[in-house]
Amino acid sequence: MEQISSALLAWYDRCARDLPWRGFHDAYRTWVSEAMLQQTRVETVLSYYERFLSRFPDLASLAAAPEEDVLKAWEGLGYYSRARNLWKGAQQVVLEYGGILPHDPDKMRKISGIGPYTAGAIASIAYDIPVPAVDGNVIRVLSRIFGIRTEALEPNTRRRIESLAASLVPAERPGDYNQAVMDLGATVCVPGTPDCGRCPLSAFCDASHAGDAADLPILPKAKPQKVIPYTVLLIRSGGRVLMRQRTETLLNGLWCFPMLEGTFSDDTLLQHVRRMLQLSCTDLRAVGPARHVFTHRIWQMQLYTMSAEASASAPAGYEFIALDQLASLPVPVAMNAAVSVLRQGSPE
Ligand code: ADE
Repeated sequence: MEQISSALLAWYDRCARDLPWRGFHDAYRTWVSEAMLQQTRVETVLSYYERFLSRFPDLASLAAAPEEDVLKAWEGLGYYSRARNLWKGAQQVVLEYGGILPHDPDKMRKISGIGPYTAGAIASIAYDIPVPAVDGNVIRVLSRIFGIRTEALEPNTRRRIESLAASLVPAERPGDYNQAVMDLGATVCVPGTPDCGRCPLSAFCDASHAGDAADLPILPKAKPQKVIPYTVLLIRSGGRVLMRQRTETLLNGLWCFPMLEGTFSDDTLLQHVRRMLQLSCTDLRAVGPARHVFTHRIWQMQLYTMSAEASASAPAGYEFIALDQLASLPVPVAMNAAVSVLRQGSPE
């Protein structure tokens, strides 16, 4: 075990990626980076991280901010519940711990947005506590090194991986060690075909010797995403456009244009708009398709523009938003094509 962690740390000293959240012992900065990095590539996070920190430089400023400002700073990163949980968690830390994240990973796990992985990452990176941070990278690297050939997420196997992960974390430099596994998983021991020739652990690696590293870990087959057809309505009234702040779990709190599930003929569409939104619209124009892929579903959208009277009032649950205010609201990437239509008349 010790040989593995020493070889990995020596490799990290030579090859660590130079990332803006490294080189600090600051639990807030680590928390923000780990929240952003969940399910999101390092390259994507790079353009958000510093901006978020200059907008919310410390935990107290994040806790005091309006929710919508936090969602706006997260706009485009996706999985917005991470932003809301981080914000709620910051408030919880202010109320319960005087603004300082506790060191104890068990206490940390009771804070909104901090699960076992994030607690391990913060405790090891910011507080030098020797605990593991088991994410997809760790599962992949350990499955290969120890030749784990049962389904990785099945409870017994998962427990075995957790226990191996815990016994590998060194007492010294646990944060560097955990980040070394992340870097190895991102750059060498990658999903698909790993680059075993460049791996500092290949001498210890069961799968590399057996030649089946590319087949590990064994994961359940992902279900294909469900494709849902939507009709997206860009209803202009004077210099305004009709929008709604979502209350559904998916994209909760973000602003979208009205959407109807399904596809419609022009006449039926105008009828629906009259009946559902109490708006009489003219100048109906189809302005093209757009598609957005989420983890579990795909929105296949048809975009339409139409005009309501300049004096029209918004139906319950909706608001007419001045076009020059649109940029200050959190709007999901799924609506980018629709926003482009409003800005320049065509999607993208
Ligand atoms: N992925 C998750 N956390 C990370 C970190 N601290 N550094 C690099 N990649 C990561």
